Amino acid sequence: MLKRDQCWRCDAICSTPTSKILCSRCGVACYCSDKCKGSDEFRHQVDCQTAALKRKCSGCNQEKIGLKSCGGCREAWYCDKECQKKAWPTHKHLCRQVIAKISELSERLNDIFDFKKSTNSHGVGTVYYWGNTPATDVINLSLNEGCDYSKPLSVLACGVGDPRNIVRSLCDLPEAYKEEITFTLNDICACTLARTVLILYFLYKGKYVDLPTVVLNMRHGNISICSFFVGGEEVASSVTQIWYSLRLSDMDYRLVISRLQELVEASSLEELTEGTMNMNQGHFQRLVEVWRTWLDLSSRQGDWITEARNKRFTSFDAQEGMDLYLKEIPKKHKESASDWFANGLLLPKESRKELSRENFTLTGSDFQLSRNRGAFSYLIQSSVLPFVGWDYNEVRQWGQFVSLLKMYSEYVTHVLKKSALKLATGLVKFHFLLCNCMEIVRFVPQGRRFDRVTTSNIADFVPLPSILDAYKPLLNLRNPSSVIVTEFLNWVMLTDAREEVRVRAHFMPKGDSFRQKVLEDTKNTAVAYSRAFQSFVEYHDHSGRFIQFLRAALLVNKPQDERTRRRTWKSVADHNGLIARDFLRCQNRVFPAKWMLNCRRVSLLNGFERAVEWVIQQS
Ligand SMILES: C[S@@+](CC[C@H](N)C(=O)[O-])C[C@H]1O[C@@H](n2cnc3c(N)ncnc32)[C@H](O)[C@@H]1O
Ligand SMILES: [Zn+2]
Ligand SMILES: [Zn+2]
Ligand SMILES: [Zn+2]
Ligand SMILES: [Zn+2]
Repeated sequence: MLKRDQCWRCDAICSTPTSKILCSRCGVACYCSDKCKGSDEFRHQVDCQTAALKRKCSGCNQEKIGLKSCGGCREAWYCDKECQKKAWPTHKHLCRQVIAKISELSERLNDIFDFKKSTNSHGVGTVYYWGNTPATDVINLSLNEGCDYSKPLSVLACGVGDPRNIVRSLCDLPEAYKEEITFTLNDICACTLARTVLILYFLYKGKYVDLPTVVLNMRHGNISICSFFVGGEEVASSVTQIWYSLRLSDMDYRLVISRLQELVEASSLEELTEGTMNMNQGHFQRLVEVWRTWLDLSSRQGDWITEARNKRFTSFDAQEGMDLYLKEIPKKHKESASDWFANGLLLPKESRKELSRENFTLTGSDFQLSRNRGAFSYLIQSSVLPFVGWDYNEVRQWGQFVSLLKMYSEYVTHVLKKSALKLATGLVKFHFLLCNCMEIVRFVPQGRRFDRVTTSNIADFVPLPSILDAYKPLLNLRNPSSVIVTEFLNWVMLTDAREEVRVRAHFMPKGDSFRQKVLEDTKNTAVAYSRAFQSFVEYHDHSGRFIQFLRAALLVNKPQDERTRRRTWKSVADHNGLIARDFLRCQNRVFPAKWMLNCRRVSLLNGFERAVEWVIQQS
């Protein structure tokens, strides 16, 4: 849980610290009421198990606090050396199996990463105009430096994709914070970064509005046109639609055109924004190419973007995915979600009058296949929805509507408005880097150190040790809350965990008591009777598998002898002076180690998303 005193069942903040009820077993989970605690019992078993301080000793069978885990497998616990010795004859088989598995996996990962490197492959072949994990406040002062922190902050976002985490962080910054905050945003894909810069530029710039003003003249009444400048918060609702909707009103269309013209005509981003945004000229010129292409395409006739989108949505896989999604989300949202699939408009139905233009900023050419040089088209995958990029629970707490379109439009607009107001203070600065994230050091201003380094799920494509080694020297050592975050979305495909889940689900009949419990918890037959994912992931413990994966990932790139020597979790987690926050005890402070699924089914997570936070080990 990423807010202080947040209820593990309903996400509400317990009104006073004393009103919260702790789980007596793990001491980590907390609840706003006995009711929440009771209803979370079945689901919480998994987290309670991994977070528990009390363990059973494999030597003497007693349950105690403070047992030490077996350094080899981390799956057995002991009071002391004696108990360990006693258990060894029966334990050794399992222990060796686990160690062998980790070695084998690290060999496999080595090969995979070598292959990716040799083929120069970065991520999957698409543009990330919309993120596929919920937006997160990466600063979160309340859980980190404290709300009264009064030093400048600096954030590095590698593989930033869209700017949702940035605006989300700005939105939540305490009013009292009056220091400079710098975001260094990196992406390898020119189209993605061009769009991110454009969205932030809208918020920076605001707009001019022309209003007819009656000037009372003593001799003859005159009507003249007067231009007013209004801030970025006034364009927030337009930006929401430009970000997500397939069609735009004529007014929003003209807004995009005029901002793009300013960007392509500028001599530099720095000059255009009076120092608020800056970027090396070479990188800037490559974004100008993207903006120019959009301008060229803006006058193209016919519904060519809609047609390209429709093609993506008619494949069998896409259809199946949509059907499943519509069954698994809360019933009341089904109609609006179907509307989204059919029309691609986030604008609620009742507000759609004249959407005369296609949103040409939704087109691009991906980096992976064409290095951004191919013809522009609509490339967003059918499974990536606006509802994935923003945490449903957060959105719902802000405003509940039956229509997801209304709910998300209003929520995103609210976040954009608040962040535009922060931009208007002049204290927020941006630095954009168009390059491979592993080559960032060359472009980061000398001496700049970061309080947060987020790396998206780059760890799925680049060996973890390389990432940690590259960014550790960039951490701000004077701030003990400085952290590197690594996300893992694909780890499960590299291990046998996914297959295990599938097989388990396959052999579990509808009437199974486990499925009945899931049904009680979710009140949704599609989830409870599903073939895998969701319920199965949420209600089963995958932490052991994930730790094995991490241990293997940390051994990639290491010399062979080190790979066999560095075995204990502790010495592995301690990578070069960095140590992972204990995600099993819910000690992440920026990104949730894993998301609770059942309360945010609209967010369409698969349950295997994990984040690990690396901090400097305090001596
Ligand atoms: C790793 S992708 C995955 C999507 C991500 N989970 C999200 O929600 O945005 C995120 C971004 O990283 C970018 N990316 C991929 N490989 C990169 C690299 N080596 N250096 C910098 N950016 C990279 C992609 O272009 C994309 O915009
Ligand atoms: Zn609650
Ligand atoms: Zn517990
Ligand atoms: Zn013992
Ligand atoms: Zn062991």
